[in-house]
Amino acid sequence: MNKCFFDFLISHAKIYGFIFPSSEIYGGLNAIYDYGPHGVELKNNIKDFWWKSMTQLYENIVGVDSSILMHSDVWHASGHVDKFNEFLIDHKDSKKRYRPEILIQEYVEKNYFNDPKKKEKTLSRLYRSLEKKDLTDIKILIDELCISDPVFKTKNWTKIRHFNMMFKIENEKNLYLRPETAQGIFTNFHNIIKSNRMKIPFGIAQIGKSFRNEIIARRFLFRMREFEQMEMQFFILPEEEIKWYEYWKKNRLKWHLELNIEYKKYYKLCKHDHLAHYANAGSDIKFNFPFGFQEIEGIHSRRDFDLKNHEFFSKKKLRVFELKKNYIPYVIETSLGLDRLFLVLFYSSLKKEKLKNGTIRIVLKLPYYLSPIKAAIFPLVKKDGLPEIAKKIFNDVKIHHKLVYDEKESIGKLYRRQDAIGTPFCFTVDYDTIKTDTVTMRNRDSLDQKRIHIKEISKIIEKETGLKKVLKKLSYFI
Ligand code: GAP
Repeated sequence: MNKCFFDFLISHAKIYGFIFPSSEIYGGLNAIYDYGPHGVELKNNIKDFWWKSMTQLYENIVGVDSSILMHSDVWHASGHVDKFNEFLIDHKDSKKRYRPEILIQEYVEKNYFNDPKKKEKTLSRLYRSLEKKDLTDIKILIDELCISDPVFKTKNWTKIRHFNMMFKIENEKNLYLRPETAQGIFTNFHNIIKSNRMKIPFGIAQIGKSFRNEIIARRFLFRMREFEQMEMQFFILPEEEIKWYEYWKKNRLKWHLELNIEYKKYYKLCKHDHLAHYANAGSDIKFNFPFGFQEIEGIHSRRDFDLKNHEFFSKKKLRVFELKKNYIPYVIETSLGLDRLFLVLFYSSLKKEKLKNGTIRIVLKLPYYLSPIKAAIFPLVKKDGLPEIAKKIFNDVKIHHKLVYDEKESIGKLYRRQDAIGTPFCFTVDYDTIKTDTVTMRNRDSLDQKRIHIKEISKIIEKETGLKKVLKKLSYFI
């Protein structure tokens, strides 16, 4: 997989209505994207899978949908005003701005891939300096490695500086766009305990938009300034921190494995390189992108960091009284980037396949339960009553499943289009349908075709593309 394939992926996502650059008619907006008709279906299916896996399979996890704008004290209590900083370095010739740690990580990936010892030594030094916020040493490292500007190829760097990642709303004193969804969970902690009679251990899940003023926002959906997170905060007894941390690491990885992505090639679970200010321990589920292994989900032990600080700032008790103890629970967090997962799925599913007849087809081999369209209904030809029968089938089945009806091109082209969108099944009405009430069913992956009765269509789609099978499998691990 190379840059050329990544460019092809971006273009495929646009041509087939998955992702468009935001405000494109005005020249676009850096690192902001819109989801097109197929993109929004796929995104909603991912959300549905995550939401049901979390809130339906676990009887002790409930959901919330909190607001994006929150009281300004929330961000002081959470530490984001003071500590949610990144480092930046400017290049004096190109006038471009970079994250110094990313310059170093990219240099190491590119130049030391044959020398793991050197790679490890350099990265350890980087992470130590990041931990200590030793900006001078990070700058020395950039100089020692002779890192130059990727465009200008010169080394005319400024000093490294701090930069707060939150978007502040102009004219609204101290209002920010939230940089993580988690705080809306902490601030609703008591409301949820009371309204839903929750007992420790329990979790609160949320899907929603977050905003970060990323300095180098690039690589398509990987690093955006407006993105969505799927987060769950699990409240526990402090002495059970390790037990639940290990539990969630294991269970989240199992969830990812159900996405049908070749595990050994693409996934790894490892300790977080550089802990966030709120975390006591952290692990990342990483995916092997063309630009190296990168985090898609973080599992963090936040201990009582957030609830304790909210108690202090709000002067409201955020405790539980259970087992004759009055205490602030610890928290294990699972935090998954929805857009990053979308990119992972798109990247690992998009294939160019050579067929037996020597032609190439482009196919999006998404897991069936995530495919934006579950089935397509075609008439073989646009005459002799076939469109009417196909339309009737479409109208009967659309109540249960997301379908398309299409008669705009020849049957071969219609199949290719559905392959490129990732539709698992195509049902074609032909002259035999008139006599036997049967249609041809074609499978996206095997390309097998067989005849089935019209009455079976809905049941087959339900059985093959529904979430039931995968949720059942996941429920064994709970
Ligand atoms: N509440 C914890 C938290 O926000 P994080 O590691 O900063 O932790 C969690 O973010 C996940 O959110 C990441 O693993 C990533 O998938 C996603 N994410 C973070 N920043 C992002 C960005 N700029 N663009 C897209 N996804 C992002």
